[in-house]
Amino acid sequence: FNVPTPVNEPVNSYAPGTKERALLEAAIKEARAQEVDVPMYITGKEVRTGNRVKLTPPHDHQHVLGYYHQGTKSHVEEAIQGALAAKEKWENLPWEQRTAIFLKAAELISTKYRYKINAATMLGQSKNAYQAEIDSACELADFLRFNVAYMTEIYSQQPPENAKGVWNRVEQRPLEGFVFALTPFNFTAIAGNLPSCVAMMGNVVVWKPANTQIYSANVIMEVFIEAGLPAGVINLVYVSGPEAGDVIFKHPDFAGIHFTGSTDVFQNIWKTIGENIHRYKTYPRIVGETGGKDFILAHPSADMEVLNTALVRGAFEFQGQKCSAASRAYIPQSLWNDLRVRMEKDIQSFKIGGTENFSNFINAVIDEKAFDKITSYIDRAKNSPDAEVVIGGEYDKSKGYFIHPTVILAKKADYETMSEELFGPVLTVYAYEDEKWRETLELVDKTSIYALTGSIISQCRYAIDEATYALRNAAGNFYINDKCTGAVVGQQPFGGARGSGTNDKAGSMINLLRWVSPRTIKETF
Ligand code: ALA
Repeated sequence: FNVPTPVNEPVNSYAPGTKERALLEAAIKEARAQEVDVPMYITGKEVRTGNRVKLTPPHDHQHVLGYYHQGTKSHVEEAIQGALAAKEKWENLPWEQRTAIFLKAAELISTKYRYKINAATMLGQSKNAYQAEIDSACELADFLRFNVAYMTEIYSQQPPENAKGVWNRVEQRPLEGFVFALTPFNFTAIAGNLPSCVAMMGNVVVWKPANTQIYSANVIMEVFIEAGLPAGVINLVYVSGPEAGDVIFKHPDFAGIHFTGSTDVFQNIWKTIGENIHRYKTYPRIVGETGGKDFILAHPSADMEVLNTALVRGAFEFQGQKCSAASRAYIPQSLWNDLRVRMEKDIQSFKIGGTENFSNFINAVIDEKAFDKITSYIDRAKNSPDAEVVIGGEYDKSKGYFIHPTVILAKKADYETMSEELFGPVLTVYAYEDEKWRETLELVDKTSIYALTGSIISQCRYAIDEATYALRNAAGNFYINDKCTGAVVGQQPFGGARGSGTNDKAGSMINLLRWVSPRTIKETF
């Protein structure tokens, strides 16, 4: 299996005066100057229903970027039919031809579409240039290239033994039916990866992105089409969740779901699939990455600079809207005062505003619903005897949904923001008594109802080993002396268990294996 050896896409800095910066600024200007008219893509056709919904930047909600065309149940039905009609030809295409399409897509993202996809993520999802570069262009190119390599490994695995006169072989067939990809707003790369890695393995897909990511989803689809993806292999629809669910989960050819989103939605989907299980031809694959309440645990030996950087970057990059974001911290009382001063200094230096000004580090949260939810927690903390807002706490939604990076000090370890997911720029700190290190390890594990990411910051090797063992089930991605965000495809396969999902590691062979249904063939001569 000769495919290019994948390497991580180099990351542009967008430093002032660089050529990339000028190109990205031009792409943003061009995008702001026009109003896009975003269709659904069903069986390779652009579908415009006339029911147009506004697309606006979260940091400038009066500006109109364009409109998307909202569909109904009948469009989901058409998308399923289109997918099933494309299936036989697609799955019988030699794997090299499928591979070439996705490698071409990766190349288009790293070259021709790089600035367009970053600009779309910056405007549509309010991600700053550096985060858009890492989380959109680079990560999506990485997913495509590494998945191609994993695919060839899967196809090359064969049973090790053949008895005399016998030839055993395993054929990695795609699933029987269609797969539903339900994707989140917060990573353009994840939105692109979920449908594409399923399609790569020979499957056909109905893809419904979050409404707040449609602006950049449209660019991803443009890339796939230009790369040569045949009509009907990935069908992109914009319909309400209940309408989509009503058609998809009752369909006999429903073969699986590839999901990233909230825990509640995933649990409801799982129940619905259970209720409809008698309808399906096959047991559907259920693969989901859901919520997180990710922790940073400091040992009294922690290096203060490492700890501070892990916290401010882990908690506040992309306004904390990462399933991996640090949202609770356990800090020894002996370190807390020093840490508080360091964090305050850094946070005060962050500029807040729209993404078009590259010096703004903090941008807006995704929409009004998120803004209202996050700020209600901040308000409750301001009025609670069990909590104190020690840094930040201000917010303003008049122009965009801006929330200042906020640190809450929880006076009780079970204060609500130590366990509930806010999905915003809010970090809650619990300062534990230094001598209660072991009890704190137990506390972190016990309160990890989610288990996505977590970090231990310590200069003591013994404490690192203790934490690594005690928290073995509390985080699917565990970091030692680093922030708990920013997993890189090909380096740290990403995903968690408990309330955080099925732990089928995005960008890994484990994940791709979920999208095949192997047939073992024994031939006797
Ligand atoms: N892969 C993303 C991160 O690790 C979610 O932050």
